[in-house]
Amino acid sequence: MSWDELCARISQSPCGQMFPGTSCVIGRGSLTPDVVFVGEAPGAAEDEQGIPFVGRSGQLLDRWISFLGVDDRFYIVNVLKCRPPGNRNPTSAEVSVCTPFLNEQLAFLRPRIIVCLGRFAMRFFFPSKKNILAESGKLIDNRFVILPHPSYFIRRGGTGWEEYLEPIKSILSNPE
Ligand code: URA
Repeated sequence: MSWDELCARISQSPCGQMFPGTSCVIGRGSLTPDVVFVGEAPGAAEDEQGIPFVGRSGQLLDRWISFLGVDDRFYIVNVLKCRPPGNRNPTSAEVSVCTPFLNEQLAFLRPRIIVCLGRFAMRFFFPSKKNILAESGKLIDNRFVILPHPSYFIRRGGTGWEEYLEPIKSILSNPE
């Protein structure tokens, strides 16, 4: 199946049509990425533009992408493709509807590193992990890095994230 076919399937599925009147936000970036960032769900700006991480969190994520030097080698997806009403947290049932598509996106993109942004992404890949701060900034299985969501750092003045990104930097500096 081509990427475009997968995107069309997602848009027409219960995942892509979860909340009537909202956009189905599939992703942005390169289809041959070294790094895939997995967020939670679109916010208001993302719902309006149909593109993930274009609001304040996205501005910080763009700084992380430059810091890592992967400006043309990243892709960004979300666990949920639609914005939950009132920006509430997704329920586990909603996450279950969408994650088969997240798996299909990852199988197509085949990144070297998967970065979980926040606890919903962390819980999908690592259901037994509970404390995001305790798990953040470590390389797991040579493929995953968990990070606090960019909004966590924004609430703290937008600083203090560099050290969390070091394991990603170090893997990217090694030849494959
Ligand atoms: N937060 C997310 O988790 N995803 C987005 O696309 C925007 C904000």
